[in-house]
Amino acid sequence: MSKKAMVVGISGGKHGGNTDTLVRIALQECKNSGLETRFVNLSSKKILPCTQCGECKKRACPIPDDAGEVLRLLEEADGIIVGSPTYFANVSSHISLLMERSLPLRRQGFRLRNKVGGAIAVGGSRNGGQEFVVRAIQNWFTLHAMIVVGDDGPTAHFGGIGVGRDPGDVDTDETGINTARNLGKHVAEMVLIIREQLPQAKKQK
Ligand SMILES: Cc1cc2nc3c(=O)[nH]c(=O)nc-3n(C[C@H](O)[C@H](O)[C@H](O)COP(=O)(O)O)c2cc1C
Repeated sequence: MSKKAMVVGISGGKHGGNTDTLVRIALQECKNSGLETRFVNLSSKKILPCTQCGECKKRACPIPDDAGEVLRLLEEADGIIVGSPTYFANVSSHISLLMERSLPLRRQGFRLRNKVGGAIAVGGSRNGGQEFVVRAIQNWFTLHAMIVVGDDGPTAHFGGIGVGRDPGDVDTDETGINTARNLGKHVAEMVLIIREQLPQAKKQK
């Protein structure tokens, strides 16, 4: 196996906010397992809505913004961890726009196929809709033919789920931090298993 496996962490929260914190914690676990990691916060990226022009059935998306660079990173990765703040029990628009614009990766040979996906959500309230956010992210993984994992035991639920309103709040959310850690470990474990079992050539369809 040539280059090291890599996991990219995407945050759809504000710079230095709670989502960044939990995504970075999950990535640290991937690093601890020997994987390379990259981190991207989408809030400073310009990503426009999909216009459904149909061009991506034949060629690259013609919209001139930052989506292409993020999509290239996703394509390069073996594992993808997506974190979003909970906004009205849904993902933030940064995440929603990235989801829309990922259409070429699906249309052009399922380029995210068999990559491992883990989801993280943070909300200001304890039952603020984080599980809906995690599910929305996991739905996106599924439509890309990815392999979805949740946080591993001993927490073992749906992914990383944090409670915090202002930046820094999740620093004291021990349960949330543990779910993010266990998610990172699980993603790393599956990435290593899949790399062992599936040669690169068989990943795309
Ligand atoms: C527009 C908006 C909608 C929100 N909706 C919810 C919500 O439905 N449930 C919830 O628990 N928190 C909600 N929040 C709180 C954020 O999820 C919370 O502040 C989160 O920590 C922000 O993440 P960040 O620090 O990574 O940006 C909302 C915040 C904003 C600005």
